[in-house]
Amino acid sequence: MKPKISGRASSIPPSETLALAARAKALRAEGRNVIDFSVGEPDFVTPLPALRAAQTAIDKRETKYPPNNGTPELRNAIARRIKLDFDREVDPARVIVSNGAKQTLFNLVQVLVDPGDEVLLAAPYWVSYPAMVSLAGGITKPIETRASEDFRLHPADVANAIGPRTKLLILNSPQNPTGAVYPPEDVDAIVEICLERGVTLVSDEMYSFLVFGDAKHRSVLETRDPRVDESVVFVSGVSKTYAMTGFRIGYAYGPKEIVDACSRFQSHSTSGAAGISQRAAASALTECDDDAARMRDQFAVRCKVAKERFRSIPHLKVPEAKGAFYVFPDFSHYYGKKIEGELVKGSADLSRVLLDKANVACVPGAAFGADAHLRISYALDVKELEEGISRIARALAGAKP
Ligand SMILES: Cc1ncc(COP(=O)(O)O)c(C=O)c1O
Repeated sequence: MKPKISGRASSIPPSETLALAARAKALRAEGRNVIDFSVGEPDFVTPLPALRAAQTAIDKRETKYPPNNGTPELRNAIARRIKLDFDREVDPARVIVSNGAKQTLFNLVQVLVDPGDEVLLAAPYWVSYPAMVSLAGGITKPIETRASEDFRLHPADVANAIGPRTKLLILNSPQNPTGAVYPPEDVDAIVEICLERGVTLVSDEMYSFLVFGDAKHRSVLETRDPRVDESVVFVSGVSKTYAMTGFRIGYAYGPKEIVDACSRFQSHSTSGAAGISQRAAASALTECDDDAARMRDQFAVRCKVAKERFRSIPHLKVPEAKGAFYVFPDFSHYYGKKIEGELVKGSADLSRVLLDKANVACVPGAAFGADAHLRISYALDVKELEEGISRIARALAGAKP
């Protein structure tokens, strides 16, 4: 008998970013010289103090079940980090650690969203948000942002999108996939709107440290309205800032009721995150500022190179991107044309042709709700970055009507 998969699970597509990264890796394993712009992880080595902390945890045989909400050491380190970064006193009892911020967000959506509830997201959005919402029975309501405005999320558009069934807004700045960093006054205004209108706000600040040039990250925790304590949740992790994607440590700080609900949810799904990883994460948050700054400075250089190079390709529109490690050019001029002999109708076709014919992996914008674009991750060294962009330029130069 064929197993019958639940309707809930069947309705969820696999993560397109992970699928593409896996395909690029497989082609590389076959000996193809693929340049991979699809990855969502820093290419740097994890800072040494964090690696040593993990090693020490192993040497000390710290291999038993860790506390469900995270070790006191790590929760204290998170509270101290928030104080340092955003000048906010944080009660470590209101911090919960999970297996990556992906699980943190998944838990939050599960404990906040009932079937039929609406969740607001700026579109383009990170691929996993709509899947999380739909697994909770919720309805994603995208708020369109425009490439011509560098994907700014207007507070007025947020206010207009709120309806009687709106439960939650997920905010993400610096943003995946666009690299947009929201102006501080917009973040403050959006927080105020959510507080006034009774909408819970989850702020995914995974990339808060990766901002470049004159851009400044504004955290929701910097908003001084005391009501923030009642309905705003801050989410972050160590994956991107400290090149620790494989350690799987993310966390949330928020109202006690929400953190307690996440704790109950997590206690029946995964239990606490790996103790060895928690040791490494605590070290990262306290001992690795210099390493983080060094990696950020390299990302800043790559960001500049990526924007300059893509802007030199005819007919591409390249919105400003000042954070995370993504640029999100508009390739739609080339849709309806033949590239390497193949008709390109949209971002999925273009991504396939670039991978098969030009050996460059980029994620189709359709995965993020923006078919005109491809997401380019510049988490690779400058030489590779330049070579990859040259390959794309050559492929596009041969486009025929
Ligand atoms: C916007 C955003 N949020 C959250 C995450 C989750 O990160 P992790 O689960 O590695 O902590 C990612 C990772 O790609 C991301 O891009």
